[in-house]
Amino acid sequence: MTSTQQTAPSTETLAGAVVHVGSEAAREWWRDAVIYQVYPRSFADGDGDGIGDIPGVTARLDHLARLGVDAVWLSPFYRSPQKDAGYDVADYRDVDPLFGTLADVDEMLAAAHERGIRVVVDLVPNHTSDQHAWFQVALAAAAGSPERARYVFRDGRGPAGDEAPNNWQSIFGGPAWTRLAPREDDGPLGPQWYLHLFDSSQPDLDWTHPEVRAEFEDVLRFWLDKGVDGFRVDVAHGLVKADGLPDWEGSVAMVDGTTDDEAVDPGAPEDGSTGAGRHGPMFDQDGVHEIYRAWHRVLAEYDGDRCLVAEAWVEPLSRLARYVRPGEMHQAFNFSFLTTGWDAAALRSVIAASYRANDEVGAPTTWVLSNHDVVRHTSRLGLTDAGGRPNGIFATDPQPDEELGLRRARAASLLMLGLPGSAYVYQGEELGLPEHTALPADLRQDPAFFRTLGAEAGRDGCRVPIPWSADAAGFGFGPTGKTWLPQPESFARYAADLQYGVAGSTFEMYRAALAARRAEGLGHGGLAWLDAHAGSPDVIAFRNRDVVVLANLGTEPVTLPSGVEVLVASGPVADEVPSDTTVWLRA
Ligand code: GLC
Repeated sequence: MTSTQQTAPSTETLAGAVVHVGSEAAREWWRDAVIYQVYPRSFADGDGDGIGDIPGVTARLDHLARLGVDAVWLSPFYRSPQKDAGYDVADYRDVDPLFGTLADVDEMLAAAHERGIRVVVDLVPNHTSDQHAWFQVALAAAAGSPERARYVFRDGRGPAGDEAPNNWQSIFGGPAWTRLAPREDDGPLGPQWYLHLFDSSQPDLDWTHPEVRAEFEDVLRFWLDKGVDGFRVDVAHGLVKADGLPDWEGSVAMVDGTTDDEAVDPGAPEDGSTGAGRHGPMFDQDGVHEIYRAWHRVLAEYDGDRCLVAEAWVEPLSRLARYVRPGEMHQAFNFSFLTTGWDAAALRSVIAASYRANDEVGAPTTWVLSNHDVVRHTSRLGLTDAGGRPNGIFATDPQPDEELGLRRARAASLLMLGLPGSAYVYQGEELGLPEHTALPADLRQDPAFFRTLGAEAGRDGCRVPIPWSADAAGFGFGPTGKTWLPQPESFARYAADLQYGVAGSTFEMYRAALAARRAEGLGHGGLAWLDAHAGSPDVIAFRNRDVVVLANLGTEPVTLPSGVEVLVASGPVADEVPSDTTVWLRA
């Protein structure tokens, strides 16, 4: 051992501060579930058109069973013109022909349930597609008509009404208002404008309207009757806007929580804030909570434990916890954790703040590192600035170090999976997939790329079709080799068939971690920091039940006490834990 090496203290003497106490009480499944996000268009293609679909998901369920997840969450597969990859819904009760049929969904649900995998579907209530029947009749109807009242139509400002009703910006870039084409019956202020916090093809609904509320309760029932186990609620913090839609001078965060205003990022304060929250009169208004209390009552009419998961970019964590108070939603994505850089102190701070806020309301904390809106954590953590949060990466940008990124990503994932609470895994992270960082502009599809006039790369790079077989065309994504986005050559190294049963592969690390997590009851365990973190500020060390989780984010190795049993490791470990490596030890 060199003099700079740290030694992990012997595990008997490790009683540190207790941050979160576990419970043996009967619990709902979602409290400690590992939930796997399927992005249907990129998971598996059943019919060979190059776009993933529901039969493709069904055919690959054994991958998920083998991995050992408790549930899947599927991003939207509803009827949609696909202007925002399905987050623009034209019919909430039908499946887009791209993805299959309602019968395919029934089959997928049955096949998942047979394997003991629950199914959570996406609900998009903040806006519809402009092709939704309601918006079409609103366009055909006159200003002030009941048809328009379900959306946010307003007259413009200025004597001719040709200035937008307020100064809000779209999260995808550009103004949040679009003006209608002129009509004969327009008044002196000319055509009205409609609000869209996202793309102009995604008009915001007016949630003060009783028909909007009734409609979504009915949509919930439609899918609950089909047997889904829960809903991930898109833009859950956006449904209600401040009265009078006041101007706002602040900076609207991008869809992945980043903002162009670096000054709002406060580092790692005690409340766990990382600058991932969106503020202003369009977000996190108190009125949203009544909607979720009503939905909670709808879910409670059904047997089993059905759940509501908030996609709410809200900070601080104490504010986010209001979404998961008793009688409201069940979980909320912990984006403060996702947006924390590779920094032990910042991670310890956000972990502690997460338990503090959620324990207060009796809700489980969630953990997430990647999803379809952010740069994959394998690539994020390989950037020179490992706390950086670009909205996608261009080929001309500084490129991530692939090897370093993967090493850190595996360490980060093993740290996450060792924490009590519920964890989300985004498709492909169990294979260690990197972001596609060299997508040509003419193939990009994310509206954020277009609305920022190409200034932001957007989210396509994390949405590339999954490689299943190293030697097949399109890496086995579908029967024809077609893929809606090109896969980088490097995907050959990450194909699932190269990883199954291979010791040390990322897939086998996740599988071992999920098995140990279940066997040791870590999801509903407690967390006690281990004193002094092995003597290094760059180490995160805690006990969860009989397991010690030790993540070494520093540059020096940490020596393990002799005779300690290593349950799972994110990289090669002998008698020391190298840099950027996490281990689970039997303590
Ligand atoms: C959410 C989704 C994102 C989508 C946006 C608009 O943030 O996760 O993919 O673009 O809402 O629906």
